[in-house]
Amino acid sequence: MALSVIILAAGKGTRMKSALPKVLHPLANRPLVEHVYDTAKKLGAEEIVIVYGHGGEQVKAKCYHFDSKWVEQKEQLGTGHAVQHGLDAVNLDNDVLILYGDVPLTSTDSLNLLLEDFENKIALMSVKLDEPTGYGRIIRDKHDKVIGIVEQKDASDEQKQINEVNTGILAANGKTLKTLLDRIDNKNAQGEYYLTDIFALAAADDIDIITSHPSAAWEVEGVNNRLQLATLERIHQRNIAEQLMTDGVALADPARIDVRGSVDISNDVFIDVNVILEGEVKIGTGTTIGPNVVIINSTIGENVTIKANCVIENAVIDNNVDVGPFARLRPDTHLHENSRVGNFVEIKKSEIGRGSKVNHLSYIGDTEMGADVNIGAGTITCNYDGANKHKTIIKDEVFVGSDTQLVAPVTIGKGVTIAAGATITKDVMSNNLVISRVPQREISGWQRPKKK
Ligand code: UD1
Ligand code: CA
Repeated sequence: MALSVIILAAGKGTRMKSALPKVLHPLANRPLVEHVYDTAKKLGAEEIVIVYGHGGEQVKAKCYHFDSKWVEQKEQLGTGHAVQHGLDAVNLDNDVLILYGDVPLTSTDSLNLLLEDFENKIALMSVKLDEPTGYGRIIRDKHDKVIGIVEQKDASDEQKQINEVNTGILAANGKTLKTLLDRIDNKNAQGEYYLTDIFALAAADDIDIITSHPSAAWEVEGVNNRLQLATLERIHQRNIAEQLMTDGVALADPARIDVRGSVDISNDVFIDVNVILEGEVKIGTGTTIGPNVVIINSTIGENVTIKANCVIENAVIDNNVDVGPFARLRPDTHLHENSRVGNFVEIKKSEIGRGSKVNHLSYIGDTEMGADVNIGAGTITCNYDGANKHKTIIKDEVFVGSDTQLVAPVTIGKGVTIAAGATITKDVMSNNLVISRVPQREISGWQRPKKK
């Protein structure tokens, strides 16, 4: 049977104390609701319906790329009311799974377990908690059959002792769900239409209610405040770190790496502490990432050494390259094999050829550099004239002396030597030496001015 997923995301999230709607708060740099949407996609959902309310325009704008239907719940009259709205957009012949926009870490394994074999039944995900206060309690009869759910605020003292609680996640056939929801009311302690009331109705109609549990309680934990968000972020990061180590990646401290995207890291990569990997990051075997390094949307080859405190964004680094410490690689930088970029070097939109070196204190922008070039300390490509950007071309085996400015557009021919302190404004022919400095003068017997 095809699956429809309804994601409830209408809640205000008052306790976040934020102008941002709750489901847009980021976990691993992506909105909470996007994690839930991705899970629904991975389950192979035929349709995904998001019930939105507070900050709906903001949510839709941020999630414009979702392949989903959006249903507005203008007033939040309860979870049952929200699902009724969602069902209006659903093919009722389908099976329907209810997820929550603020419960980001439910695994597809646990959901697939829930969805196993529930034809003509209602599948409910429950969990046993040491501290069940606040949750709806699962009521079972003496044959252990589920006969209802009682909310905390409606529960008797005896029912409050029950530690099996409702996660909120459930699945049923669309028609069954609709028929049951048509019969709920709001005569309860909170004056809300409870989704949970369908269970007592189903039990009375002899519809079987089957339960399954998540692999861990954090899978069904929701975010109501920033502390809970940070707690789930740590759990998520720990899970990623464990997976990386299982895959053969060495982490100096699994608690001090943050992965905010999708990474493809080969075995025998060593990652030191406080490293942040964002977006799509690929790292080849034998590579070492030093402490305090940020890598965003980049591909790094094998046996590369990235030393401490580098920031690397939208760059490609080939095998056997050395970078840092304190280097900044900006978008469209490509470091070819065996090249070396040292400390306090900024590179933007440039090719650094095979075996070339930019070791100290330089800015290289919009540059095409050949192989085996040596860039002296303090070299600057002057790529911007105040209005437009221009290109610098440096052919193979050029030696650029320290403190040189290359005023683009300019081409330096193969094997050129540029003497230190040059300002190069014209193209230089292959194999020449070029000097542009003011000749040195000496004045003997020079008296320094004296203070009056
Ligand atoms: C709900 C369950 C409770 C369960 C708990 C698990 C009901 C009546 N109770 O309680 O049994 O133990 O979740 O966390 O279902 N929402 C809407 N529209 C509404 C109301 C809620 O979209 O009108 C969304 C909220 O944004 C939230 C979710 O539904 O994501 C749950 O709502 P909430 O009010 O937090 O339910 P609980 O009282 O926690
Ligand atoms: Ca809640």
